[in-house]
Amino acid sequence: MTLQQCLAGVSRLDLVGAATPLQRLDRLSDHLGREIYIKRDDLTPLAMGGNKLRKLEYLAADALHQGADVLVTAGAIQSNHVRQTAAVAAKLGLHCVALLENPIATTAPNYLTNGNRLLLDLFNVEVVMCDELNEPDRQLAELAERLEAQGFRPYVVPVGGSNALGALGYVQCALEIAEQSRQQKVNFDAVVVASGSAGTHAGLAVGLEQLLPQIELIGVTVSRTVEQQLPKVVALQQAIADKLAITSHAEITLWDNYFAPQYGMPNEKGMEAVKLLASLEGVLLDPVYTGKAMAGLIDGIALQRYRGNGAILFVHTGGAPALFAYHPQV
Ligand SMILES: Cc1ncc(COP(=O)(O)O)c(C=O)c1O
Repeated sequence: MTLQQCLAGVSRLDLVGAATPLQRLDRLSDHLGREIYIKRDDLTPLAMGGNKLRKLEYLAADALHQGADVLVTAGAIQSNHVRQTAAVAAKLGLHCVALLENPIATTAPNYLTNGNRLLLDLFNVEVVMCDELNEPDRQLAELAERLEAQGFRPYVVPVGGSNALGALGYVQCALEIAEQSRQQKVNFDAVVVASGSAGTHAGLAVGLEQLLPQIELIGVTVSRTVEQQLPKVVALQQAIADKLAITSHAEITLWDNYFAPQYGMPNEKGMEAVKLLASLEGVLLDPVYTGKAMAGLIDGIALQRYRGNGAILFVHTGGAPALFAYHPQV
């Protein structure tokens, strides 16, 4: 069976529609002296885009199948995942309850009310605040129980949409990348992506191993050290492979030099990358995921961290609404 046939066995709502663009970044390539391409998953077509819509194609299909009437999820106040889940709930006529934390303990008004958080109010999300999402699966299960007691039929979308089902969205994305690189006659040496709750990274790892096994896939961590992140990515990689009844042995590569000082807090190199992409390409990255991942991509060239010298593809996972939340500072 082909990978496409394996995926076709799992029900999916069509929320993403046509393939997101895969583009050469001419001015950034000139600037860095290296061929750089970008996969525009920041342009997925709902509520300012981002990577979560691909995961939600599978998760929302499952929610509808189970007869759910409310999507329950969790994340930071400025979570892009929560914003996209809320938009999908609105589109499907479902209620949405979000359990939110303030991981950087800021009182900056823009962080607390602007950017993604402002959009949650437009989607009519019921927000429940908590001190810390230290055991999100348990916290979400408890919240779902409370909703059930009130007569709702909740469906829990895990943090980042990153379980084996949601991560299939990025196996699907690997299919798109393989097809677009064939059409555009470009061979990538490396693919770089932000690695957080790990579904994007693990899904790409499984998909690219099947379709373009020569590519070096690099996950730039946005919240954890390699030691902490590796078991998460590997466990998800194996769970995805099991779900598709295939095997996956691709080695997982992580770079953890770019997320300091911590999850959800911008750093200088990340903000320089945001400014560089905006000023050279008119492309908007974000302060705490894609800015940091792009800082890793750029530094990796300077430090010769890649196996080869060929074209690099950056998977742009979105997040630009948070630019407004982190301004002027957190
Ligand atoms: C803009 C953006 N990029 C990347 C990620 C990380 O993706 P994943 O959680 O699948 O590792 C996130 C997660 O929230 C995100 O919002």
